[in-house]
Amino acid sequence: MQSLDTNSPRYVPGYDGVAKLLHWLVVLLIAAQFVIGWTMPDIHKGTVPDGLIAWHLGVGAALVAVVVLRIVWRVTHRPAPAPVSPFFSAVSHITHGLLYLALVIVPVLGWANASSRGWTVKLFGVLPYPALSPVGSSVGHAMGDIHGILAWVLLVLIGLHVAGALFHRLVLKDGVLQRMLP
Ligand code: HEM
Ligand code: HEM
Repeated sequence: MQSLDTNSPRYVPGYDGVAKLLHWLVVLLIAAQFVIGWTMPDIHKGTVPDGLIAWHLGVGAALVAVVVLRIVWRVTHRPAPAPVSPFFSAVSHITHGLLYLALVIVPVLGWANASSRGWTVKLFGVLPYPALSPVGSSVGHAMGDIHGILAWVLLVLIGLHVAGALFHRLVLKDGVLQRMLP
């Protein structure tokens, strides 16, 4: 979809190129994590992390790095506020805040679970991340279950967020969706 002409009355200054790139990279990596997380084999004591499980850990390591970059960029580069009503502004702030929270908590719980299984999470298969939980830890094990449950919560938040974006585009017909498009 084309950006609006900057002279159009519906034009709203949006996110910078880096913020857009990081937003859509996170969308891509999360989509991959859901597909891999739901199709990889069940994990038991002694499971070797190869095949799809290795992919889930590898894509997860990249996601953690991109989320950190995204948060650092967001804190240092504030976007112009969207010109929406106070009600929509409050709803979007709450949803975005919860999305950021889930973007941190869900991956960290998966990482802690990997650590408790004695698996090292590595960026691009080379740069090892520190262990977040001791090997064999029952807390780390429980974090795996919570990881799976909170992934559903994240999915619901994404659903609300996408519904909001489409509501802006199709019902309010304002320029909010364009703010995050190339
Ligand atoms: C937002 C990103 C992520 C999503 C959406 C996601 C999604 C999932 C899903 C759907 C499952 C299967 C849960 C089940 O069937 O019970 C799963 C399991 C798992 N994920 Fe993730 N994941 C994410 C990030 C990560 C990261 C960053 C890591 C580690 C670096 C990780 C490690 C694991 C592990 C170890 C399991 C197995 C847990 C168990 O069975 O005890 N995940 N993930
Ligand atoms: C994995 C899925 C997604 C996640 C985790 C996510 C997360 C976020 C977050 C945290 C923000 C707030 C940005 C900030 O102000 O710092 C945001 C903004 C935005 N997202 Fe997403 N998003 C996802 C998918 C989508 C999709 C599929 C669309 C389009 C249909 C979309 C459209 C937008 C738009 C238009 C904004 C800017 C809203 C505004 O200007 O206030 N997002 N997204």
